[in-house]
Amino acid sequence: MSTDLDLARLVERLGTRPRTTVLTGAGVSAASGVPTFRGEHGLWKSHHPAELATPEAFERDPALVWEWYDWRRQQIAACTPNRAHAVLAEWNRRDPTFTLVTQNVDGLHELAGTTDVVRFHGSIWEVRCWRACAASPSRWRDDSVPLPSIPPTCPHCDGPLRPGVVWFGEGIDPAVIARSELATRCELFLTIGTSSLVYPAAGLVQQARRHGAFTVEINPEATPLSSGIDLVLRGKAEDVLDTLWPQLMQIT
Ligand code: APR
Repeated sequence: MSTDLDLARLVERLGTRPRTTVLTGAGVSAASGVPTFRGEHGLWKSHHPAELATPEAFERDPALVWEWYDWRRQQIAACTPNRAHAVLAEWNRRDPTFTLVTQNVDGLHELAGTTDVVRFHGSIWEVRCWRACAASPSRWRDDSVPLPSIPPTCPHCDGPLRPGVVWFGEGIDPAVIARSELATRCELFLTIGTSSLVYPAAGLVQQARRHGAFTVEINPEATPLSSGIDLVLRGKAEDVLDTLWPQLMQIT
């Protein structure tokens, strides 16, 4: 568990009013009841996410992939933001230099009030035409829970829709990459609730270090990046951020 001395080091850094960027992963939504990908509840009907979240899996069996996403959308629709989302949203509101980059597709940061979220892996609440037909926009929001049909169909070409998320083997939107890289030009970079296993998201920490940022990791477990991080706060995001809250409110 992180100590008061550890937190004091972060508070000291905050006192210099640094440009701050936060990268979040599934661990930030764990307390809201959204299963993490590599935790003990990461399976769905004995399928690993990595087997379903790929263009090949969708090509092979769009109905199976949409069954999984429809199940996740129904799960997430029943979840509310937790203390970690709330503290980050308040931090975002009070600090104009604050940027939040998330790997999460659940939309809970936005629901908590964080604005201008950089959605590194897209959103489970958006859909795209699988054929990218000329009449359809690149992506649009679809909140329907449950989905009216599996797979849902494109209203413009009647072909299948696909989830508006980034799958394994797919590139990240260049505009999102550009915004994220700009955000690594900061003085304080926190990586919260991510196993730091999936790139290029996990590479943002090293980029921030190269730009001279003081790096902080908040996670109850060690990650492959922990040894290179300036300050590791070993604990749950909702607990650590809640403890930080009073000092944060005085500084920002
Ligand atoms: N607070 C902070 N961290 C937590 C908490 C918590 N309450 N509970 C769990 N964690 C940590 C775990 O220790 C783990 O390091 O959250 C991390 C979750 O790791 P993953 O399940 O791998 O999720 P994530 O890092 O977001 O995965 C990255 O992989 O599957 C793809 O696209 C998917 O965006 C996802 C990416």
